[in-house]
This record gives sequence, C-alpha cells and structure tokens, in this order.
Amino acid sequence: MKIKKAVFPVAGLGTRFLPATKASPKEMLPLVDKPMIQYVVEEAIDAGIEEIIMITGRGKNAIEDHFDISFELEHALKGKNQNKLLEEVREISNLVDFCYIRQKEPLGLGHAILRAKDLIGDEPFAVLLGDDIIYSDVPVIKQLIKIYDKYNTSVIAVEKVDKREISNYGVIEHKKIDDRVYQILDLVEKPPPSEAPSDLAIIGRYILTPQIFSALENTETDKSGEIQLTYGLRHLLERQVIHAYQFEGRRYDAGNKLGFLKATVEFALRRPDLGSEFREYLKSLEL
Ligand code: G1P
Repeated sequence: MKIKKAVFPVAGLGTRFLPATKASPKEMLPLVDKPMIQYVVEEAIDAGIEEIIMITGRGKNAIEDHFDISFELEHALKGKNQNKLLEEVREISNLVDFCYIRQKEPLGLGHAILRAKDLIGDEPFAVLLGDDIIYSDVPVIKQLIKIYDKYNTSVIAVEKVDKREISNYGVIEHKKIDDRVYQILDLVEKPPPSEAPSDLAIIGRYILTPQIFSALENTETDKSGEIQLTYGLRHLLERQVIHAYQFEGRRYDAGNKLGFLKATVEFALRRPDLGSEFREYLKSLEL
C-alpha cells in the first residue's frame, strides 16, 4: 500500500531553546533562512507524501501561518516587483495538504500519534520528528518506504550512537538480516548505557502500520505520565515483525543547542550563495 500520509508531532514546549521559544515554536527556528520544520516537510514531499497531519499544541499557530497563504505579504511583494521572493513565499503554501490536530496536554510521543488515528484510518503512514534534521541524497523517509515496500512491516530509522549518548534515545535489540536492515527483537526507551541492548539508536523517522494505534491504546503511561512510542512499538512487536534501517545521510540533533549550531554552520557552508564567503570567514577566525 502506498504511504500517502505523514504525522508530524510538533506540540513540544521547546524548553531547551528558551527564551527563544517563549512566544514562538521551536520548529520555526531557522537554519540559515528556512524554519527547521520546512526542511522536514520538504523531505516528506520529496518522498511522495500527499498529506501532512501536524499534532500541535498551544502557541504553535506560527506553524499553521507559515504553511498558509499570506495575502498581505504576497500583495506587498507584488507591489515591489519582488517576484522571486513572491514565488518562494507562494510555493510554501502550495507544498502539500496540511491538517492540524491539537494535543491538549503534553502526554508523550505515543499519545501525540494516537491523536491522528481517525485521520489516518486503516493505512500505513510515516512519522517525522522535527528535531532530527537529516541531510541526504535520498530523503530518509523515502529510504524507509523502500524497506516497507519490500517487507510490508513497520520500519524504524536507526543510527549508531556513541555509548555516552545512548541514554538520549530509544535503543533496539536486533538481528541483522541484510545490508543496513535489522529485524527488531526488542526496544528500550532511553536506557542507561550499561543496559542498552546495542549501539543502534532510534532516530525520528518511522513507517508504521495502522495496528500501532491499538498497540498504543494498550500501552501504559511511564513514570512521568507519558505514553512512549517506543513502548507502543514493543506491544506491536508481540503481533507483527518490525524492521530497522540504518539510513544513509548526515543527521543533526537540532533539538539541542550544539546540534542546532552544527546544522546551521553546515547548511550555510553548503549554500551556493553563502558557502564560500562563510568558509573564508570561519577560516579567518582565530580559534
Ligand atoms: C524520541 C523517542 C526516542 C527517539 C528520539 C529520536 O525521543 O522517544 O525513542 O530515539 O525521539 O529523536 P525525544 O527526543 O522526543 O525525547
């Protein structure tokens, strides 16, 4: 079955970027001149996604406005004959169909995804987390769709992560079955390094079968009162095979300050209009 819909959980409070995120969503922080969320939306579109379901929360209206038509702005740009900018601004609102659902309370990633149950219905779908920005030749979600097409199971993106960092991630126990492809035997959410079953961490790209919804409905909340997607997947694993795919691409954890800075610098260096001048500037710094 073709993967047509994608869920974007964007209700997080962005506390790691305060005060910048006090009145604006962290997803709107720009890498150079494009909000982070737009990179991820473009990744989904490049992979053939036709409908994006954003799970939002209070204070996230700027995301809706960003992907909508801005009549006043378009009118002003037209008046000033700034046609290239006008085209760019227009294109954003024409990208794809968007739906928005509010997650009223921050009850975890699993809970956020459950909000999309009625809109998804009985078909497999993609999930993309905006904190993971990935630069790659083939969009990572497209790489996962290819694996889904082959095995017809849920597929999760994974990456080798240093032991010291592993407790920031969901981690899989696995059996290797092909180049970069693993069958998942178990999953643990944010284990201490000594208890991590491997060094393969879950990165924020998933293809999920619709049975994930009943699995999440039967998932208990954790100590902090949240429903974790990782534990929903563990329930799903009792009924279905799940695969993991070690994607090709360079990932930035733009949900923390250092990762965000690395992404900003590297995306700027790749820009044809800025790259060489910026490189010279960086070289000139007495570090
Ligand atoms: C979430 C998931 C975790 C995964 C991570 C990837 O955690 O719960 O399993 O490894 O995304 O970015 P979060 O970063 O939202 O705390």
